[in-house]
Amino acid sequence: MAAAAPGLPWVTIKYAQTLDGRIATRSGESQWISGSESLVYAHELRARHDAILVGVGTVLRDNPRLTVRLAQGRNPLRVVADSALRTPLDAAVLADAAGALVAATASADPARRTALEARGVRVIVLPAEESGRVDLAALLRALAARGVRSVLVEGGAEMITSLLRRRLAHRLVVCVAPKLLGVGLEAIGDLGIARLDEALTFSRSRFWTCGADALFEGDVANAQASCVPPPQPATERVLTAE
Ligand SMILES: NC(=O)c1ccc[n+]([C@@H]2O[C@H](COP(=O)([O-])OP(=O)(O)OC[C@H]3O[C@@H](n4cnc5c(N)ncnc54)[C@H](OP(=O)(O)O)[C@@H]3O)[C@@H](O)[C@H]2O)c1
Repeated sequence: MAAAAPGLPWVTIKYAQTLDGRIATRSGESQWISGSESLVYAHELRARHDAILVGVGTVLRDNPRLTVRLAQGRNPLRVVADSALRTPLDAAVLADAAGALVAATASADPARRTALEARGVRVIVLPAEESGRVDLAALLRALAARGVRSVLVEGGAEMITSLLRRRLAHRLVVCVAPKLLGVGLEAIGDLGIARLDEALTFSRSRFWTCGADALFEGDVANAQASCVPPPQPATERVLTAE
């Protein structure tokens, strides 16, 4: 990892959704919405970012490892935003504790912190937002201070919504799978947008097909430009839909 970067890291949000904009069923199941080619692409994205960030809701529901297995490259730092330290001690994301960091607030039980640290997990205590949850700008600053220049956010809905609402994301990667779920977990909640001209828009954007899925990628317009995007994975190999 490089020396401390000035400002905030580059933030890429990536998620897989159905045609009707769901990232999970009504019961919270999401593995897997996307096809196998898109999963490979997701791992290539992981390998190109310094850290992966998820909310503790995703850890509790999916127990993901968040490692690079389907592509070449090193595992990024795994980061969980977890105000009250609800991450289970045996969570898969902590399997390589040295590569994991849990961000909490002062409301967390000190005994939980001690238990996590006894396993070798780094716990950082950050200011809380008004909602009482981890202040994500403070988290990104703390990561930058540790040399993290790029962060891949892999959900879930609350985390994605918080980052977009606070305009902390630079790039969006959405995998759209040809599936319908009807009622389910919507990818993005309230962004505080009332008028169409307030909609988030994108530059450097494109749609392409990845196996049976359609992928959208684009830079969020007017995001802070003080950071450098990570290299993009090659996409030439997966251009035809089934
Ligand atoms: N299809 C996909 O690509 C995909 C990817 C990932 C997850 N998922 C699905 O998404 C679901 C989980 O999403 P979710 O929305 O329930 O949970 P989430 O976004 O993973 O986690 C939300 C939790 O993170 C913690 N958090 C700490 N600081 C936060 C902040 N500033 N903003 C937002 N959250 C913060 C909060 O818990 P505390 O208050 O306790 O800190 C919050 O409840 C699962 O069903 C999973 O399968 C789908």
